[in-house]
Amino acid sequence: MNVLDAIAARGSVRQFSDRTPTQEELARLFDAANLAPNHRLTQPWRFSVLGPEARAAYGLALGHRKAKKATDEVQADSIRQKTSDEHRAQPCMVIVAMTLHENLEIREEDYAATMMAVQNLCLAAVELGLGTHIRSGAIMGDPASRAAAGVPDDERIIAVLTVGTPLEAPMPKTRRPATELTRWMA
Ligand SMILES: Cc1cc2nc3c(=O)[nH]c(=O)nc-3n(C[C@H](O)[C@H](O)[C@H](O)COP(=O)(O)O)c2cc1C
Repeated sequence: MNVLDAIAARGSVRQFSDRTPTQEELARLFDAANLAPNHRLTQPWRFSVLGPEARAAYGLALGHRKAKKATDEVQADSIRQKTSDEHRAQPCMVIVAMTLHENLEIREEDYAATMMAVQNLCLAAVELGLGTHIRSGAIMGDPASRAAAGVPDDERIIAVLTVGTPLEAPMPKTRRPATELTRWMA
């Protein structure tokens, strides 16, 4: 598959089969991510692969946050359990974190580079017949979710990925054409 086809085929996958990607497949994704452009070659990206117990712990952390909207403790408990179970049932979760350089300019470059690594990973997944869904949000800064992913204090989580075999091809989203978003300066 050429790169343009992979870019066109990538989309956020919402339904996955039960199959967990193999370690070899995941290693290929991380190798592709590791080739992302990166000023000063700081290689700021770090990947955590979450097995079922870690996924359940991450889901419980998210469930605790969701349960704050519950009207009673029974409902809160049900939300926590459901969110935890849903995460355990995912085929695979990959948490992408980045190191935090003391120089803020480098830190911003590192954030950009780590996002490019995420895109490399997502495109490589298309080539391997895998699908991805990126998630984010305040949960990424939650001590319990960070602990579930084994992320140390001197790193920041920047993306939470589900990786697996798609049950169907993702539907392309309608986008404004790039021509509307482009300035051609003489
Ligand atoms: C940095 C980033 C954070 C995202 N966070 C979420 C999220 O928290 N929840 C979610 O459902 N999708 C999330 N997405 C996925 C986007 O919603 C999705 O990429 C967008 O709707 C375009 O759809 P596509 O990926 O199918 O092209 C995120 C994507 C990016 C790049």
